[in-house]
Formats: sequence, C-alpha cells, structure tokens
Amino acid sequence: MANKLKYFIGNWKMYGSPKSLNVLLRVNRFLSKNRNIRKNTKIIFCVPYTLINNFSKKIQNKLVKIGAQNCHHEEKFAAHTGSINAIMVKKSGANFIILGHSDNRNEGDTNFIINKKIASAIKQNLNVIFCIGENAKEKKAKRTLAVLKKQIKESLYKKFKNKKIIIAYEPVWSIGTGKTPKLHDLKNIVSFIKSEYKKIYKNENTPVLLYGGSVNAKNVTLFSTIKEIDGFLIGGASKSSKNFIDIIKNYYR
Ligand code: PGA
Repeated sequence: MANKLKYFIGNWKMYGSPKSLNVLLRVNRFLSKNRNIRKNTKIIFCVPYTLINNFSKKIQNKLVKIGAQNCHHEEKFAAHTGSINAIMVKKSGANFIILGHSDNRNEGDTNFIINKKIASAIKQNLNVIFCIGENAKEKKAKRTLAVLKKQIKESLYKKFKNKKIIIAYEPVWSIGTGKTPKLHDLKNIVSFIKSEYKKIYKNENTPVLLYGGSVNAKNVTLFSTIKEIDGFLIGGASKSSKNFIDIIKNYYR
C-alpha cells in the first residue's frame, strides 16, 4: 500500500553556505504557488549542522522544513569533541534527521550504533529518515534482501514510535553514480521492506518508504510508476532549486 503524502527530501551532505538559503526559498515559492502539489507533498532539506539554526529561523512558518544529516549516538551531553547529539540537533531547530546513511556506515556506523542514534533522536521527537541499502558486492552475491532484513531488524525496535520513522532505501552502488535499480527489482524490494517493517510494527500504519540514489528529473517519471514508493531522498540534485523543482514537477506530471 502507498501513502498519500509524498516526500521529497534533499540531502546536501557536505555542501552549502548561508547563501544557499535561496535554494529553499525558491522551492518554497514553487510550493506556495502550486496548491495541488502542496496539499500532498512534504519537502525537507537536510542541511549541514552549521546551517540548521540560521535556516530554521528564516523559514519558520514556511512550507519547506529542515532536517539534519546525522548525530552522535550518545544521548546526553558528553566529552565527544566535534560531535553533536540529538538534543543539540533538535534545539537548533531541525525536525527531521537522516540516520544510517551509507556515508556514515562507511565511516564506522554499525546497525547497533544506528539503533542508539534512532533511539536518541526519537526521544527528542525528531522524525527519523532511516537509510538502508546493499552495496555492489552484496548485490552481486544476491544478498540484497538478507542485508536489508538485517539492517531493519538490528536497528529498529518495536518500542520506537513507527510514525516517527521514514525508511529510505538507498542502494549504495546507486548513490552519486547515475546507476539506478531496474524497476522490477525496485518494486520487489520496496514490497519486501514494507513487509519486514510491518513485522515489527504489527497492525500499524503503512510505513513511509523513500527511494534514494541518483534521483533526477528524468528517472523520477519512471519511479513514479511504483505507487508504493512514498517519496525520494535526493542528494546531488537537491543542491539546485531548478533540478529539485523539476523532479517534483515530473513526478506529478
Ligand atoms: P544522490 O545521493 O542523489 O546524489 O545519489 C543520494 C543520497 O546520498 O542520499
């Protein structure tokens, strides 16, 4: 089953300066002018920590929302030089947070650490965008479903409120490469993830599931045919308001 609300979430990674606020303002203008799109669409920009506070003040009461891209797993204030925890993310004005991105998994985040991060983020009432995905080697060995299952099982607990968790399926081999999964494979994987998720959160709502990995204005028209996909996590193409708006326009075309 699909959710009615569609998400377009930008992941800026290590990009952006105070001037980049213009991207958000342009996207916001587009949304406010398009009532039909606005009513079923949620737009979030996950920006670097350095921009969260400034941007969240400037876009207060606007349609576009702000998210962070990671946090430290320690939920209390502690001696971790250079790190930021979920309390700090929340207090700086973010309402969403990406956790488990493959960039961070590559830098040492395990399913166990991601589980602790999710727990601390949920405690702060942040909406979690939980990333999962197989790498090229795992795909080749036909281990995709097993990898996804393990990532979900080891990082999500029943006690987490499921309304606060959005899953983003991002095959690692697709991120920033221009390669995307075959539609048939993607459809099966999306159903598999939804059913695994439902095993944890029995009798609850259909999970929100995003696809991420080289999404652009062209391929989004193909992805839009898979109704079970509830939106997209967009890296490279979210740095430009034009590219980002074109993705939204083409999705609804
Ligand atoms: P991409 O990145 O759209 O540039 O492939 C997606 C992501 O890393 O979330």
